[in-house]
Parts: sequence; structure tokens; C-alpha cells
Amino acid sequence: MNLLRTRIDLDAIAHNTRALKAMAGPVALMAVVKADAYNHGVDRVAPVMATNGADAFGVATLGEALHLRSLGLTQPILCWIWSPEQDFRAAIDAGVDLAVISTRHARALVDASAGTPVRVSVKVDTGLHRSGVDEADWEEVFTLLRDCPGIEVTGLFTHLACADDPSDPETDRQAESFSRAIGLARDLGLEVPVNHICNSPAALTRPDLYHGMIRPGVVLYGLEPVPGLDHGLRPAMSWVGDITVVKPIRAGEATSYGLTWRAEEDGFLAVVPAGYADGVPRMAQGRIRVGIGGRFYDQVGRVCMDQFVVSLGSNPHGVTPGDEAVIFGEGGMSASELAASLGTINYEVICRPTGRTAREYEGQGR
Ligand SMILES: Cc1ncc(COP(=O)(O)O)c(C=O)c1O
Repeated sequence: MNLLRTRIDLDAIAHNTRALKAMAGPVALMAVVKADAYNHGVDRVAPVMATNGADAFGVATLGEALHLRSLGLTQPILCWIWSPEQDFRAAIDAGVDLAVISTRHARALVDASAGTPVRVSVKVDTGLHRSGVDEADWEEVFTLLRDCPGIEVTGLFTHLACADDPSDPETDRQAESFSRAIGLARDLGLEVPVNHICNSPAALTRPDLYHGMIRPGVVLYGLEPVPGLDHGLRPAMSWVGDITVVKPIRAGEATSYGLTWRAEEDGFLAVVPAGYADGVPRMAQGRIRVGIGGRFYDQVGRVCMDQFVVSLGSNPHGVTPGDEAVIFGEGGMSASELAASLGTINYEVICRPTGRTAREYEGQGR
């Protein structure tokens, strides 16, 4: 068994997917499984989502879309980060919905469609100013796509900039802009049957913006995107490492590179086999409280490439080598707590485990 593991609870994935499906009601649920299902392992996670209510999948790259198809999933798959310079023919042949994120993308798909059916969804920029067709180009793009017989426009979508702060009026501004885009597309003769704007925070807080589909990611993995809210989601990932060494340290002695942490009293240290090569940020020094046997212990000293050190104090509870240290997840800090301690967001925390971390799965996905 690997010393460093993420433990993925498939029953939690099933629970969260069902919860979002119930929220969606009559509206479709697109499960976002980019970045290897937010680092949970798409091969195991996507089929669980499919059997628990996901009607479609969203991914970033062409490679992710093709991989998802290769798993045998037959639901629509939308891919929103690609370039006309790439070979995107295989994605068209696999029935992947390609996002039109600029006029250049629209032209490339029109050129590629000669005779072949191509499914597209237009990503309109409503204020994020990242990728997406600018309002000034909507009419040109909608017309280009409408006039191309091979192209089927499944709908429009857009991405929200500030939905994680429900009081931010930008979401309403973007929603209005999105409605304008839908109106224009229909005026120009495109049916745009299934449109979507809601990421996780909007799926939880803005049922008035559901349109034909919601497109959440992080909530399916059990994390709240709006700090302070609780929708009874179940975090699916824990990151654990087996302690390799427990050793004494005397008052005045220090540990790890630079000897930046010094023991004030005689005590014990434990070594956890996770370092910055595995995704524990070096700047996490002193900011992680590791869970061992249901109790918390401070990480101390520099985080190294392959390991970090924990102070056990006088080790009153008898921590020994082989005990499991929880970096985040069940029995330790939550991903959200660790994110707050590191000055980041829970999304980034769950993407951290990498390097020598192996995945193990529990539950049946029910
Ligand atoms: C275009 C798009 N839609 C949906 C999502 C899902 O976002 P969230 O995980 O906040 O639900 C993402 C993720 O960043 C995205 O890029």
C-alpha cells in the first residue's frame, strides 16, 4: 500500500449528485468533471455521477472529453477549452459538444462541418472577460452558425464571475446579459433549446437562473463554494499519509531545513511522507493541524520536498509509526478549513494531492 493516499468516498459522490439532481428538479444536471474530476479520478467518479442523476458532463480539454467518451458514457459531453489549431476532428466524431468561445472558433467549426454533423454550444461572455464570445460578436457568430447546415447549436452558456458572493450585483448583470444573448439568438432563428449559467454557487443560491440546465462542479465533490453555507453535502476526498518515524526531540533542539522551529520542551516528533513534490505547499509551514487518531497536532518546521514534521508534544496518546495522519478530510481539518488557513479556496486544496499520492476508493457509489 502506498504511504500517501487520497481516499475517495464514492457514496459521498453519489449522495451529492442526487442532492444536486433533486435541486435541479425538471432542469438537467451537467456534472463538471474537468481536471480528472477535480482530482477525484474521473474513471471511477463519472460513472457514479451518471447513475445518480448526471444528464451531461462538462470538461475543459479535448483530451478530457475523449477520455470520458472512452469510458463508455453516452451522455452529452461539453468541452470548453480547445483551439482551432488542435486536431478536434476526433471530438466531433465522438459526438462531443464543442464550445464556441470566439469568432475564430465559430469559423473553424463551420469549416470543419462540411457534411458532418457538429454539435456546438456557444459560450457567450457576459462579464467574466475570459473566454467566450464578446457581445459585439454575438450576431456574427449566431448568424455564421445558423447558416451552416451541419451545425446543431444545442444552446448557449456563460460563466459567472462573482457567484460565490451572493450579494454581488454582478451576477444579476451577467444574468441580464445572458438573457439578451438568448433573445438575440432566437430572434436570429436559432432555437438554443438548452441554456445554462449556474455553476455551483449559483446552483445553490439562484434557482431563478436555472434555465434548461445547471452546470456545477465543486458541490458534487461535497464542498460548499460559498463560505458559511451548509447544504448537507458530503466531502468525498481525504488526504492521508502513514507516519514513517516517531522520534524524541529535546527542549532547544530544532527540526527540518533551516531549523526554523525549535522545541520549547522535551517531546516527540512524527514524520509524514508528504512534501511539496506531492502538493503540500512549502508556504504551508505552521498552518496545517494534522489529525492523528482523532486528535490535532501542529505541523512544524519547513515543509520539505517529500515529507513534513508534526509536533506530538509529550505524545500523551501514544502516536506510533504506521498511524495515519490526515492532512485534510475525515479525521482532520476539512478542505475548507485548510483552505482558509492557507489563504486559498477549497477548490485548490482538493487539486493539491499529486506526486506520489495514490488514490483509494471506498463505498459503492450508491
Ligand atoms: C465553464 C465552467 N463551468 C462550470 C464550472 C464549475 O464551477 P464550480 O466548480 O464552481 O461549480 C467551471 C469550473 O471552474 C467552469 O470553468
